Amino acid sequence: MAKYSMIAGTGSYFPKKILSNKDLEKLVETSDEWITSRTGIKERHIAGDEKTSEMAFNASINALEMAKLPQTDIDGVICASVTQDTILPSLSCMLQDKLSIGGKSFAFDVEAACTGFIYACSIADAMIKTGMANNILVVGVEKLSAYVDWDDRSTCVLFGDGAGAAVISAADKPGFRSFNLSADGKYKDLLTIENLGINYLADLSNRKKEDNYIKMKGNDVFKVAVKAMSDYTVLAIKNSGLASCEIDYFIPHQANLRIIDAAAKRAHIAKEKVIITLDKYGNTSAASIPTALDLFIRNGTIKKGCNIVSSAFGGGLTWGAMVYTI
Ligand code: ACO
Repeated sequence: MAKYSMIAGTGSYFPKKILSNKDLEKLVETSDEWITSRTGIKERHIAGDEKTSEMAFNASINALEMAKLPQTDIDGVICASVTQDTILPSLSCMLQDKLSIGGKSFAFDVEAACTGFIYACSIADAMIKTGMANNILVVGVEKLSAYVDWDDRSTCVLFGDGAGAAVISAADKPGFRSFNLSADGKYKDLLTIENLGINYLADLSNRKKEDNYIKMKGNDVFKVAVKAMSDYTVLAIKNSGLASCEIDYFIPHQANLRIIDAAAKRAHIAKEKVIITLDKYGNTSAASIPTALDLFIRNGTIKKGCNIVSSAFGGGLTWGAMVYTI
């Protein structure tokens, strides 16, 4: 049985269409200045007709190539997403079929909103350490543009589409070092997408157009997010056995630059260690951490042996953090 698991390869994919803040000025009453100063976001990628499963497939192929692993060696597929193509079948089964590994691997989805990638990595790590699998493909993927009310300036400026994948494999030295996960359903109304759930379908007569879209109490989410991300970042570092000074990079969920700055400051992480991608991609929910990781491995910033802490928060509310060595 493997003592450890580690990330053997990463991949990312973004749809071609870019929507800039200037483009958004033509859709709603907003400005590049407001969006940049309040969020740090300058532009985001929008999927249009591209399906979530197609984005997941493209990122997965890149991750498998980096890992130099034939897809037939994948024992399981775990997708983290709240924007799957259909409720049934799962996104993971669709991706597994696209990869032509049906019947040779398990496949299931994890729904933990923007914390989904961290939750999914913790499951993959546990399955590998208990001998249930040697190689698991974990994908964080989201097409939130489909759930955005393009008339609502308070949310439509925030989100983007994309997919990030990681091949997680059995290893003889530590990759994943700690996971700390949490959730609190008392915050369930702060961030919602209500359509397609059984509650929604039970009574369609009272439904309003807004029920089809992301609804968010931004200020309330902000407050919980800063505390949850910083506390769990500190906790995961403590549980990892590494000293804070041994952490090379902080890859937080990319929701808002002000949240990231405040969380990093509260967790005593130096600014130069913080990885930022939201200026170009917006908030891609479960895809934000794996895409940032992949982009900064491919641009040469993150090298073999680097120690990373990632933390996230998302609808539910869920939150968590993990420490891992590349
Ligand atoms: N352009 C111009 N003005 C705007 C816009 C916009 N796009 N959006 C809101 N405003 C206005 C509001 O109407 C309000 O005007 P008023 O004072 O006349 O009423 C004013 O700006 C201030 O609005 P606030 O909501 O207080 O703005 P705030 O500074 O809190 O920023 C934001 C809003 C960016 C959403 C912030 O609350 C936030 O980042 N919250 C965290 C939540 C988050 O990041 N969610 C996304 C992630 S969810 C997830 O990852 C699972």
